[in-house]
Amino acid sequence: SASPRAEAQPAGANYDESKVPDYTLPDPLVAEDGTRVMSPEQWRDVRRPEILRLFSELMYGKTPGGRPERMRWEVVDSSDDALDGLATRKQIRIFFDGRDDGPRMDLLLYTPAAAEGPVPTFLGLNFRGNHTVFPDPAILLPDGADEADRGERRGRWPIDVILRNGFGVATAWYFDIDPDVKDQWSDGVHPIFYAEGQDRPLPDEWGAIGAWAWGLSRAMDYLEADEDVDGSRVIVLGHSRLGKTSLWAGAQDERFALVISNDSGCGGAALSRRRFGETVERINTTFPHWFSDSFNQFNANEDSLPFDQHMLIALIAPRPVLVCSAEEDLWADPRGEFLSAKHAGPVYRLLGADDLGVDEMPPVNTLVGGTIGYHIRPGAHDVTLRDWDVFMEFATLRLGRAARR
Ligand code: GCU
Repeated sequence: SASPRAEAQPAGANYDESKVPDYTLPDPLVAEDGTRVMSPEQWRDVRRPEILRLFSELMYGKTPGGRPERMRWEVVDSSDDALDGLATRKQIRIFFDGRDDGPRMDLLLYTPAAAEGPVPTFLGLNFRGNHTVFPDPAILLPDGADEADRGERRGRWPIDVILRNGFGVATAWYFDIDPDVKDQWSDGVHPIFYAEGQDRPLPDEWGAIGAWAWGLSRAMDYLEADEDVDGSRVIVLGHSRLGKTSLWAGAQDERFALVISNDSGCGGAALSRRRFGETVERINTTFPHWFSDSFNQFNANEDSLPFDQHMLIALIAPRPVLVCSAEEDLWADPRGEFLSAKHAGPVYRLLGADDLGVDEMPPVNTLVGGTIGYHIRPGAHDVTLRDWDVFMEFATLRLGRAARR
C-alpha cells in the first residue's frame, strides 16, 4: 500500500521506487552520428547545437526569434527610497513588438539602496502578478487585479532578505508573456512571430514554456542595460512550471550566469525515463499548451526520446546550475531531479568545471556539489525562506557577492 506521503500526491501515478523501470540514458557526449565528443570544441561546435535543436524540435518547440527589432521599454516608475530606504525600485514596461497596445510585460526590479556598484541579481517569473510578491503599495496592479492580494505571495519572495544580502531581484508575471491557458494561441507573444495567415504554432514550434523562457531573455535585455544590475551576474530562477522555464531559458541564453530550478519536476530537472510521479503523457494531457505538439509522440514512449533531462542541464555547462527539490514533492520526483544533475556531470568535466561530486542523494538541508549544485529540503512543493537561503549561498559561492568577478 502507498505511503502517507504518496497518498498526499496526485493519484494514478507511480510513487514506488521499486517500480521504476530499467532505462538507459542517452550519452550527452556521443553525437548523433556516433562520434564520441572528446574536446570542448566538439561540444561547443557539434554536440551542444545538436542537443539544443533536439529539445527545440521535439519538446519545448522552436523559438522563432530573439529580440524583436521594434521592442522598446519605458521606465514607468523609479524610486531610490523604496521599502523604507532599503531599496531602489524600478518598474519597466517592455513593449515586445513596440506597439502600445501589443503584448507587454511589466518588470519589477529592486536593488539594494546601499549598494556601491552593480549587483548580482535574481530574475524569476511569478505566478500571481507583481503586486503579490511584496506588500509595496507602489507596485503596479495588473489589469483586473485585486488590491487585497498585495504581498499575498510574500512567503515565496523574501525581497527584503534578498536585498539585505546584497542581491538585486527582478520579477514579472508570466501571464504578461503568455497567459497559461489551453489553446489560446491568439494571445501573448506567439502572434508576434506568426507568418501571414498563421493562427497557432506549427507542431514543432514553441508552446507556453518556450514563450515564457523567451520573455526571461527579454527581461535580460533590459537588465543588461540597467547600471544598478551586474549583467554578468544575472541568476535566472523559477519554481515548478516556471522552474522548467528557467532551465530552458538558461539552456538557450548564455547571458544567464547561473540557473536555478526549484521543484521543476517533469519537463524540468526530473528524468522522464523514470516515470516516477508525473509522466510525459500526464503532463501533455493536462497541460497540452506547455510543450510543442511534437512532444506528444513520447507519451508512454519515453525510451525513444533522443535525450533526457540531464542533457538540458548539460546545455547550461560550464555555467553554474542549482537543482532544488522538496522531500514531500514526489509528483516532481526528487530523485529524478538529483539524477539529472548527476548525469550532466561528464559535460561539466569535459569543459573543465566541477560536477556534482557525490553519487548518492544527500540528506535533507545539505547543499552538495561544485559547479552543479543539488539541495533537498524537508516539506512540500513550494518556495520557502530555506530555499532562498540555499539560492543565495550557492550564488555567493559561485558568483561572489558585492565585488565584480
Ligand atoms: C502541476 C504540474 C507540474 C507543475 C506544477 C506547477 O502540478 O503537473 O508539472 O510543475 O503544476 O507549476 O505548480
